Amino acid sequence: MGKYRIAMLPGDGVGGEVLAAAKLVLDSIGFEADYRYGDIGWEFWKSEGNPLPERTIDLLKETDCCLFGAITSKPKEEAAAELAPELKGKGYMYSSPIVGLRQLFDLHTNLRPCRAYPGNPLNLRDDIDLVVFRENTEGLYSGVEWHPLPDEVRRALDTHPKMARYRAVKNEDIAVSARIFTRKGCQRIVHNAFEYAKAHGYPTVTVVEKPNVIRETSGLMVREARAIAKEYEGIELWETNIDAMCMWLVKNPQDYGVLVSSNMFGDIISDLSAQIVGGLGFACAGNIGDDYAVFEPTHGSAPKYAGQNKVNPIATIRSAKMMLDYLGEKDLATRIENAVARVIAEGRVRTYDMGGNSTTTEMAGAIAQAAKEG
Ligand code: IPM
Ligand code: MG
Repeated sequence: MGKYRIAMLPGDGVGGEVLAAAKLVLDSIGFEADYRYGDIGWEFWKSEGNPLPERTIDLLKETDCCLFGAITSKPKEEAAAELAPELKGKGYMYSSPIVGLRQLFDLHTNLRPCRAYPGNPLNLRDDIDLVVFRENTEGLYSGVEWHPLPDEVRRALDTHPKMARYRAVKNEDIAVSARIFTRKGCQRIVHNAFEYAKAHGYPTVTVVEKPNVIRETSGLMVREARAIAKEYEGIELWETNIDAMCMWLVKNPQDYGVLVSSNMFGDIISDLSAQIVGGLGFACAGNIGDDYAVFEPTHGSAPKYAGQNKVNPIATIRSAKMMLDYLGEKDLATRIENAVARVIAEGRVRTYDMGGNSTTTEMAGAIAQAAKEG
């Protein structure tokens, strides 16, 4: 019996390979866990009409936390076209199972550290150390969407003066995706960003929104951020619009520390932040709630590399390291972090994205060896 129960959800494409790589490293440092593998992803959408089967949700409930591989997501029509013939036309709607997990388990905080490891040839600069806090359950990902617009929704929207411009447009010619922010949602993501800045010695928290245009939702986030910032003496709140932030992240990324944003904008800045420190092959994430957490590489399922033992497993290995932090296994977490840094600095083992030709397994093996040596 291990000390922990860990759910393993490989998912699609390269998910299984990167998860196996992370497990190799966890095993090398003697992390004691019982692993339970669960079904998730495209295969189950096609065969069952549900990429997140009920049995998987039950499995997660019996574990301490989850390591997740990757998911293939496709737009509505393409997804429907791939359903098994007997399931077609029965009203099944594809929705991303990772987004589903985040909402179902109220994993409100998506934590995405992006730091430049010395010696990584892919760094834009070597002095970048960013941490993205992305609100993970609301905003444009709420899933409250319509097309065509139902009459009652139309009537409600028509009460807004700005709808006058759309008077002549028919309901079937309008699509609406609601951007829903709650005060609680804004408060907890900003609060967690400040707590992290305090605990890890970051001097600034930058709230990344667009309140000059998206007045109500972005406005709520920024107003709550101002109020919360008052509780943290010595940590400055910076306010930057999402468009400008994309520019600054390319121009002066070293000036920033903790970034906090809503779901969609956080999604965007986390890919950008990842790219300037090596790309998605290095980008780890923790979806963290009050009672449960799912750790995953930020990259997708990379179907064209599936089964080739080729992709960089560092993103998933670092996600496993974040999992150890979450479980309170600080020493083990530090061993993984140091091992990743060492292997990158030595530069002997490099996957294709780093300009080398080491395999997924070779990279994992090198990190496992370094972690074992301490
Ligand atoms: C991410 C991904 C997901 C998201 C996709 C796969 C649904 O891009 O975790 O950043 O949009 O959140
Ligand atoms: Mg993304």
